[in-house]
Amino acid sequence: WAPLGHRLVGDLAQRQLTPTAQREVKRLLAGEKEPSLAGVANWADELRNTDPARFKATSKWHYVNHANQQCVFNAEADCKDGNCVVTQIDRQLAILKDPTQPIQARRDALKFVVHLVGDVHQPMHSSDHGDAGGNGYQVSLKTRVEPEAYAKDKYKNGVMGTNLHSMWDYYVLGESGMRSREYADKLWASTHGRPRATRVGDPALWAQESCELVDAWGVYPESHEEDSAEYAKAMRPLAERRVAQGGYRLAVLLNSALDPAYRAP
Ligand code: ADE
Ligand code: ZN
Ligand code: ZN
Repeated sequence: WAPLGHRLVGDLAQRQLTPTAQREVKRLLAGEKEPSLAGVANWADELRNTDPARFKATSKWHYVNHANQQCVFNAEADCKDGNCVVTQIDRQLAILKDPTQPIQARRDALKFVVHLVGDVHQPMHSSDHGDAGGNGYQVSLKTRVEPEAYAKDKYKNGVMGTNLHSMWDYYVLGESGMRSREYADKLWASTHGRPRATRVGDPALWAQESCELVDAWGVYPESHEEDSAEYAKAMRPLAERRVAQGGYRLAVLLNSALDPAYRAP
């Protein structure tokens, strides 16, 4: 996701932390510019600019490409050397839980968990179409959304040259025109942070759901020329459901990791 999607997942999770988990999060994030889950949710992507070497070393942690045209996670085939989102959620969670780790390591692990639970719920981050999660599927978009600075050169007369992956990271939620707090309030009111029939499951299941939803929802458009408002309108219910599921599941993970009295559902 782009910053909006990650902030929504963090904001919705924060509302579902137990008081003990809230306190631990606050302690771990002391000294951060914005010491909340939403405030640190984009750190793993910001490394691209603040620490390029570390970004490069962790860039494969944001997604998983399922091999062999099937959506069931297979660590051997899909996650070489543990460098994929499914395995890294477990590894970062283990660091977060480990009281013998230095606090800086636990703080970074918390920031990775918040980010990666968001990404694994973005359908295009766990796909099997052989095009790098839609990065290889070019689309020209009619859109009112002003592109971010890095993409301004691809925007001419209301038409944006982009790809399906970016459409999902950025436009499907961004076309709403809502800011993150306002949007989180709206989602919270409609789902109480927990969409119907969401079970907790585990990261491999979340990736499998993402992969299956790509086909179930017809996420690949018929045409390479799309009206972004129309596409976003059709896909927004799916994106919102994934963000709300991510927030709920992130809260369960963090409550389990940080509150000894908590019992996961
Ligand atoms: N790079 C390669 N595959 C990707 C995916 N599914 N999501 C994001 N980046 C990728
Ligand atoms: Zn992405
Ligand atoms: Zn990411």
